[in-house]
Amino acid sequence: MTKDSPVADRLLAWYDRHRRDLPWRSPPGERADPYRVWLSEIMLQQTTVPAAAPYFRAFVERWPRVEDLAAADTDAVMAAWAGLGYYARARNLLKCARAVAAEHGGRFPDTESALLDLPGVGAYTAAAIAAIAFGRPATVVDGNVERVVARLFAVEEPLPGAKATLRRLAATLTPPQRPGDYAQAMMDLGSGVCTPRKPRCMLCPLAAGCAARAAGIAEGLPRKAPKADKPTRRGTAYWLLNPEGAVLLRRRAESGLLGGMAEIPSTGWDGGTAPQATGWRCLPGAVRHTFSHFHLELEVMAARTGADWRAADGFWVPLDRLGEQALPSVMRKVVRHALAHA
Ligand code: ADE
Repeated sequence: MTKDSPVADRLLAWYDRHRRDLPWRSPPGERADPYRVWLSEIMLQQTTVPAAAPYFRAFVERWPRVEDLAAADTDAVMAAWAGLGYYARARNLLKCARAVAAEHGGRFPDTESALLDLPGVGAYTAAAIAAIAFGRPATVVDGNVERVVARLFAVEEPLPGAKATLRRLAATLTPPQRPGDYAQAMMDLGSGVCTPRKPRCMLCPLAAGCAARAAGIAEGLPRKAPKADKPTRRGTAYWLLNPEGAVLLRRRAESGLLGGMAEIPSTGWDGGTAPQATGWRCLPGAVRHTFSHFHLELEVMAARTGADWRAADGFWVPLDRLGEQALPSVMRKVVRHALAHA
């Protein structure tokens, strides 16, 4: 192996010596199980490798095959997913497992385009499964790969504008042999060597051919277009207790922000109507939370209902069982605020 060998050859030789041993990876030389590849990739879109690993082990122990997951009780899967983040993903996970079981005889399709038709499977996941589980020369592009490629070719155009260029350049490197190992080698290189800050070029198998390193600009790539300032949205959350000491929650719409998750009823920032109770008082202070695209500031109103009050929608949860609800972070803050001030 020399510095003139193709990028893929050098990277694969490096991978054979330094690959991370991860629970979803097959032993060297063996094809990975598409179900395990799919499951891990969905989890890894949501969290880091160390955080995903215990969830992955628990899922495959409980549901070893896609048909087992397809037959699982929805609530059991949601509960097992709790802590990994957005429920919309878990629901799509189940939809996808059921589609594979019902429409594909329990076998994941083996081409990128057929994989793309599955619920919750986007370009990244389809390419990852096609390459890793089926040995197809699909180009897998995530943030790590964008960074490695931007540096290798010294692409100075900022993201997100540079995405198409980086994808095209990435595709020129994908080898016909061992594309799955190659994709995972890129991920390992991006996460352990070609890191966002302080890249460890001394350890990099591609350093000799890296244009950004030659130009002394590796750490500054990929450049990012400055983000517009986030706007602030304001709204109101309604902390309503019944005489038994239970609080009113309701479920958010399936689509949209925090889709399908439970909330303290809230209005003003993302739709929603106030519960029709009386005697509201405004608690001092406010709850602040930052989403990817905006800051949110919620005032919290509190009231108590009479015994005969009926909620138009929603459900009552005793205060001492609130911990069992998969509430999004912003709503946990509302709960803490209400408990501290009501
Ligand atoms: N991040 C996303 N997918 C991955 C994989 N298969 N291996 C390591 N890191 C990853």
